[in-house]
Amino acid sequence: MGPMYAFEAEGLVKRFGETTALNGISLSAPPGTVLGVLGPNGAGKTTAVRILATLLRPDAGRAAVAGVDVVRHPARVRRLIGLTGQYASVDEDLTGAENLVLIGRLLDLRSGEAKARAARLLADFGLAEAADRRASTYSGGMRRRLDLAASLVGRPEVIFLDEPTTGLDPAKREDVWAIVRRLVADGVTVLLTTQYLEEADALADAISVVDHGRVIAHGTAAELKRVVGGQTVLVRPADPARLAEAAAIAAAVAGRPAEPAGRDATTVPVDDAAAFTEIVRRLDAAGLAVTELSLRLPSLDEVFFTLTGHRTGQERAA
Ligand SMILES: Nc1ncnc2c1ncn2[C@@H]1O[C@H](COP(=O)(O)OP(=O)(O)O)[C@@H](O)[C@H]1O
Ligand SMILES: [Mg+2]
Repeated sequence: MGPMYAFEAEGLVKRFGETTALNGISLSAPPGTVLGVLGPNGAGKTTAVRILATLLRPDAGRAAVAGVDVVRHPARVRRLIGLTGQYASVDEDLTGAENLVLIGRLLDLRSGEAKARAARLLADFGLAEAADRRASTYSGGMRRRLDLAASLVGRPEVIFLDEPTTGLDPAKREDVWAIVRRLVADGVTVLLTTQYLEEADALADAISVVDHGRVIAHGTAAELKRVVGGQTVLVRPADPARLAEAAAIAAAVAGRPAEPAGRDATTVPVDDAAAFTEIVRRLDAAGLAVTELSLRLPSLDEVFFTLTGHRTGQERAA
């Protein structure tokens, strides 16, 4: 029987001078699953990934990949993992194909094997036509796909994706999501860090919410959404003078206080879509016209506010 967890970090502590980047964080995932690590900038996501990936030693705690300790056996761990994100290993002066073949050779593949693997990955990632162009000519999206392909040359069992979609437009984000789903279908275990609950919801089997170097909540997306009030209804009355009235209706249905959203809209967390329908019905009965009425997942900022009582200190990402 293999290890119970594809990767496991327990009580990791890491300090940089005065800064405590990790304050006892624990993360784990069973083989073949996706763990979403959700947290704002500075939460310690990258530091935790770097320790799991053997790039950094913890001050305390332990971490293992496929049961192999990352501090004692870093070389063995490196053979098990793929890493992308803030550590692009791609050489700008080489073509896409040359980059992947080089990595294959560094991983001790025979020349023919390395070429075949490169061709296969370039095709999988929609880069076949760009294979013989220098990486420096690639668009941002192509570059990110090349980074992902590079991390897969060694057929990793576990892959670390550190904010793979931050800064991407929604269409490109969907491309990355499709790739992650294909990795999982191939049996790869994924640790995905993100600042978007929506992304963790779409991809992760379990989510660890991190703040100040520790896990402040863990569960499935459904469990977390239950804790943070599931979805959020936003109401923007056509007549701004009726905002308070709209907020009162929304709050009465939700059984929770409504919060302002900008100057002329109000939001309230709801447990299910039925509450949304009821709010729509009551607004209509009150003759209250709206210019916007929507149901969406909470932003990271709202999740944090519910879990911790404080904001992330960052603007809500679109
Ligand atoms: N090499 C470093 N030297 C000093 N401080 C660092 C270093 N790396 C990270 N930090 C600090 O540790 C904290 C966690 O950073 P990081 O792990 O990058 O968070 P995240 O990836 O969630 O944004 C931050 O306060 C950051 O400034
Ligand atoms: Mg980071």
